[in-house]
Amino acid sequence: MARVDDMVARRMAGEPLQYVLGRWGFRRLDLALDRRVLIPRPETEEVVDHALAELDRRLPRTPPGPSPSNWRDSPPETRGDRAKNAWGSTAVVVDLGTGSGAIALSVAAEREGVTVWGTERSPAALALARANLAGLGGRAATRVRLAEGDWYDALPADLAGSVDVIVANPPYVAAGEELPPVVADWEPPDALVSGPTGLEAVGAVVAGAPRWLAPGGALVVEVGATQATAARALAVAAGFAAPEVRPDLAGRPRVLVART
Ligand SMILES: C[S@@+](CC[C@H](N)C(=O)[O-])C[C@H]1O[C@@H](n2cnc3c(N)ncnc32)[C@H](O)[C@@H]1O
Repeated sequence: MARVDDMVARRMAGEPLQYVLGRWGFRRLDLALDRRVLIPRPETEEVVDHALAELDRRLPRTPPGPSPSNWRDSPPETRGDRAKNAWGSTAVVVDLGTGSGAIALSVAAEREGVTVWGTERSPAALALARANLAGLGGRAATRVRLAEGDWYDALPADLAGSVDVIVANPPYVAAGEELPPVVADWEPPDALVSGPTGLEAVGAVVAGAPRWLAPGGALVVEVGATQATAARALAVAAGFAAPEVRPDLAGRPRVLVART
């Protein structure tokens, strides 16, 4: 009863339910959550769908049923048995600003044989991501690497030019922008606010991507609903030929997808 009373008191004081419960569902995962990390949002579950679609485009899974007789002669991109890379996996995905690990751990849980790197600047957030990684367990967990540092700086240099999909949900709120108290008073400011324009973190993620992506690789970035035009322009400036901003389930342009 004392524990329930405490939880009710915290909720009545305005604390988000996800922090009060200490866990929340994200796609197939049950993630531990507390004030060290952003509460993963449903829109970000959709971002994972886009990242997985880009990954599947790079790494088609073998279709069920008999293979065509010339299957082994077809190019690796179309036959589903892609050669393993230096990390012993068939593809590499990077999640920048992993927070609770929601995106990185979902990709690892939902696609076999893929190495997933999650980078994070906040040591406190990274500690929680590590706890969630331990909770994931199994073979999927052995394919996840978590690294502390600023965006791409946390990655090993030999990953450059070989990442299949870069995915990120960076902070994209402008300093001074009004947020509901349930967000502004409880969630980590560094996970929400990017800088004076709100586009600083998106800009850093987009500008750095070409160096790390493999030829034909994809960048998938969650952006604010008013940032589509600016995000597309940032991608063009970084050298992406035909970036798109795709709508979320509410029809708002929220996911930048750009291919090398
Ligand atoms: C919007 S939150 C997203 C967290 C998680 N990926 C999700 O979708 O729930 C942004 C994350 O980026 C991290 N971050 C902010 N600036 C960063 C930087 N320069 N380098 C790496 N991570 C950063 C924050 O600490 C925070 O965890």
